Amino acid sequence: MNDQFVDDLLARMTWQEKLGQLQITYHPDAGRTRDLVSAGMGCIFWQGSAEATNAMQRHAVTHTRLGIPLLVGLDVIHGQRTIFPTPLALAASFQPELAEVVARISGREAASGGVNWTFSPMVDVSRDPRWGRVVEGFGEDVLLNSTFGAAMVRGYQGDDLAAAGAIAACAKHFVGYGHAEGGRDYNTTDMSEYRLRNTYLPPFKAVLEAGAATVMAAFNTIDGVPVHANGRLLTEVLREEWGFEGVVVGDADGVMNLIPHGVAANPSEALLLAFRAGLTVEMGGNLVKDGIHVLTDAELSPTVVDDAVRRVLTLKVALGLFDDPYVDPEREILEATPEHRQIARDVAASSMVLLKNDDALLPLAEPRRILVTGPHANSTDHLGAWVQSFATPSGSIVDELRRRLPETEVLLSLGATFLGGDEPSLAAEAASRASESDLVVVFVGEPGNLSGEAASRSDLRLPGQQEALIHAIADTGVPFIVVIESGRPLALSEWFHRAPAVLQAWHLGTEAPHAIVSALTGRTAPSGKLPVSLPRSSSQVPIFYSHENTGRPATVGGQLEPTKWDPALHGPNNVDDKYSSKYLDLDLGPLLPFGHGLTYTRFEYSEARVSTETLSLDSLRHGATFGLEITVTNVGERAGDEIVQLYVHDLVAHRVQPIRVLRKFSQVHLEAGESRSVSFHLCFEDLAFWSESHLTPGFDVEAGAFDVFIGGSSDAALATRIEVTTAP
Ligand code: GLC
Repeated sequence: MNDQFVDDLLARMTWQEKLGQLQITYHPDAGRTRDLVSAGMGCIFWQGSAEATNAMQRHAVTHTRLGIPLLVGLDVIHGQRTIFPTPLALAASFQPELAEVVARISGREAASGGVNWTFSPMVDVSRDPRWGRVVEGFGEDVLLNSTFGAAMVRGYQGDDLAAAGAIAACAKHFVGYGHAEGGRDYNTTDMSEYRLRNTYLPPFKAVLEAGAATVMAAFNTIDGVPVHANGRLLTEVLREEWGFEGVVVGDADGVMNLIPHGVAANPSEALLLAFRAGLTVEMGGNLVKDGIHVLTDAELSPTVVDDAVRRVLTLKVALGLFDDPYVDPEREILEATPEHRQIARDVAASSMVLLKNDDALLPLAEPRRILVTGPHANSTDHLGAWVQSFATPSGSIVDELRRRLPETEVLLSLGATFLGGDEPSLAAEAASRASESDLVVVFVGEPGNLSGEAASRSDLRLPGQQEALIHAIADTGVPFIVVIESGRPLALSEWFHRAPAVLQAWHLGTEAPHAIVSALTGRTAPSGKLPVSLPRSSSQVPIFYSHENTGRPATVGGQLEPTKWDPALHGPNNVDDKYSSKYLDLDLGPLLPFGHGLTYTRFEYSEARVSTETLSLDSLRHGATFGLEITVTNVGERAGDEIVQLYVHDLVAHRVQPIRVLRKFSQVHLEAGESRSVSFHLCFEDLAFWSESHLTPGFDVEAGAFDVFIGGSSDAALATRIEVTTAP
């Protein structure tokens, strides 16, 4: 079945039938959805089961003139029945292959119920954790978003969209959504072409190169033009420059949002703007209202409509829907299977980040009596944002601890609620119970609904009285560990120095309790690395590692020390290094850097070895590479996994370059005492950046020196300096 089939079908369609194919909407009432399908709507949201979805497919096939089957979409973001770690947690594994497995299982579970299209992966680079949706993407780094997004596409789509278990992926939200002003969701995004091309567009290019069948337009504006009406992005970049031939779906009511954006006066104008800009499917059901098409072929060009319909029909053909749009209800996967649970545990183990572990307090020795406290200690809210009501729930950590440590007495005291308003006695009661224990584990963080869409926060500290609980426990002098379950990176500075050990456990999904207890008891060892910088305070953001150096980089942090006040001469202190880019009242840099993460052993790095320190630009353009090799040794007492990271700094170019850019990473597993060589090859693309003033506007490498850093975080030491020459 191919283009000829699509062209023949298109030729037989009426104007109304064509417009019907170009919309998707959600209605909780199946009857209402059936009426819309009768009127020609070509795309629906999942109907909640294989049976119900089959029924809607059958209605489309048998009760419409041309019997065109339906696209069935759903937000399968990090699981359908089995819930896996959130995408940001997945990114912390620095193992894209895990994301591919997660997507494959999630797609298989969703497809068994009749879903054939997921609105995932989200590859919005995000450097402002006030934005709640930082949880849905792969963090602040371009390479992580690119590699994880591409892996998710491979997992969802496999090699054949028509194969059982395959569903169409959707790269979202195109583009720049994570750059929202103030981290306020849906807010203005404005940036230079230079920033757009080097930071926000590359992950979408990578995901489309991996074969993503669809793209979702973003709610925000770029250069004052809402993306849903932005022909430069939806047509010139996506279609003409990148050759994308798939479906561009609007976000929910994103087309109607053009009215409050102030670029359309009414729904018809909004629809015209969007489809002329390059939208394919409107999410909102406004093209055909109550069986009547809103636009005529005098208003909206039939060429535009035919191109859009062709894209939708081509996707339906690729999904095999014209051959068989139905699924076998007997084979619908309704809950997490033991196999999927085990995989969820394994993925979660690799997603946790051990932020500190003074005195090797972790893994837990066999304590006689543990107190667990904090809002996550007894909650079952571990799934994270973007899970549906039918997801397989998780248990509680306290129950899991009691099950796994039968010889240990596990005491429970709430200590604090998630959002506060607690009686003061809660923390005091927990502190008094602490004194009866050998060890305290404080489970704090955010509930799942405090991140995700429409969940921006201005205050990044632990919500409610959770910090007070930590201080109350610290005041008892009993050894304690803090486990943080949050959608976003939080500002921990108020108490971080008092906690001997801190584990960042994100929201790990259905198997969170099992995975966290396994990490605490040493059955597994956390091996994740931060995919986002940890801010010192809410007002420090945006803060990220691949920043520009500025003309006055600071070397001394700010402290408003009264002893150094000299209003007559200098005002507040910071007289050292005063005229540099920093805050008077905050130390420099993040609390912990991108790429940071400890484990239950330690690694040492040798000097780097480089195949050649110099290459000509011409040879680089023709495929030559810099080979770099380094030996990593496990100098601890137990096996462990290290994510070896390689960063590059282009020292001098005609446009300012970030002080470091992650260009390679590789996981290595080492037994105690074992050493292994890890090698990387830097090619043209690894040294290039986009500029409109390159010979041809685009990505190019400029001759000059590049510093290479290799290590276990973005603070990695200088490994070597390489040179690209203009010599022939
Ligand atoms: C939401 C989100 C988008 C999601 C869509 C459908 O508004 O922005 O990510 O896929 O609606 O649920």
